[in-house]
Amino acid sequence: MPCTVIVGAFWGDEGKGKIISYLALKDKLDFCVRTGSVNAAHTVWIAGRRYALHMVPAAFVYEKCRLLIGAGANVHVGKFLEEVELTKVNGRMAVDQQASIIEEKHSIQDKTSAHLKGIGTTGWGVGPAIEERVRRTAKTAKEIPELQPYLADVATEINEAMDTGKRVLLEGTQGFMLSLYHGTYPYVTGRDTGAAAICSEAGVGPTRVNDVLIVLKSFITRVGGGPLPRELTKEEAMRRGWFETAAGTGRDRRSAPFDFELAKKVAKINGATQAAVTKIDVLFPKCRGAQAFDDLPAEAKEFIKEIEEKTGVPVVLIGTGPEALDIVDRRK
Ligand code: IMP
Ligand code: MG
Repeated sequence: MPCTVIVGAFWGDEGKGKIISYLALKDKLDFCVRTGSVNAAHTVWIAGRRYALHMVPAAFVYEKCRLLIGAGANVHVGKFLEEVELTKVNGRMAVDQQASIIEEKHSIQDKTSAHLKGIGTTGWGVGPAIEERVRRTAKTAKEIPELQPYLADVATEINEAMDTGKRVLLEGTQGFMLSLYHGTYPYVTGRDTGAAAICSEAGVGPTRVNDVLIVLKSFITRVGGGPLPRELTKEEAMRRGWFETAAGTGRDRRSAPFDFELAKKVAKINGATQAAVTKIDVLFPKCRGAQAFDDLPAEAKEFIKEIEEKTGVPVVLIGTGPEALDIVDRRK
């Protein structure tokens, strides 16, 4: 801290929501800025309750954290209002006045496009909404009556906050391999999902970032079309306990083993200074609920060491269960 960027390393669903919710509570975050759009669902488990958040930042679990949506983000007004109500964050939630708006028509365009169907989009309409923004015909938050009480200049607010030493976290969405520029094009999302793009969407210059934390899941999953090296059959994924369904759309997630070479490349391109490894309890069930590195079995420690050796990045957080506090924190 003061400014940390959270980036998903693979094809999304690495467990960013869990890591962000932990950091919010543990580091007493002052600000959390969400980027991206409604297609990405961040799962947060707190006090036995599960939230799959499409708009409200995952740091909502820390009640003093101010929650923001950046100018580069794309806001679904209905989902936003629904989640503000659900998480009771009215009074500490704001939206940049220049964030663009995603509408029902974009979802219809997404779902009825044969090309986008082939890519296997989430159907929320994010691609068409961004197309409109690029054409400069999209609506922005300041034009929406329901958003008037939430409007802010997010970039100015967080930069001034950083000037006074406040702790700011920039919440990336999806994963680096879904980046429009660096991912498995054309099987990607409609935006760059890397660390630099997250800063750009929030309005933070590169010199102000202290840490880039990449979130790596212990095995890889992907939803939608496109390549997935060493993909397992659904039967094999189920046998290993890796089979998941998407938090946002309910679709089956495809799966594959952890990829050290890919992790190394992603760490480098994002300038990662820290890594989190999530769901280690799925690979090594004895890890479940552990909070100390020494309580992990030898195979799990080896796995973490191998990630550190291959990527050159320290693994500072290890997720050992779904709840925000099921974590090994190796930071000083
Ligand atoms: P779109 O972002 O809805 O246009 O979908 C493009 C691709 O990104 C598809 O393969 C989606 O499954 C994938 N995708 C979009 N958002 C997420 C996410 O939050 N998690 C995982 N995959 C996603
Ligand atoms: Mg997700």
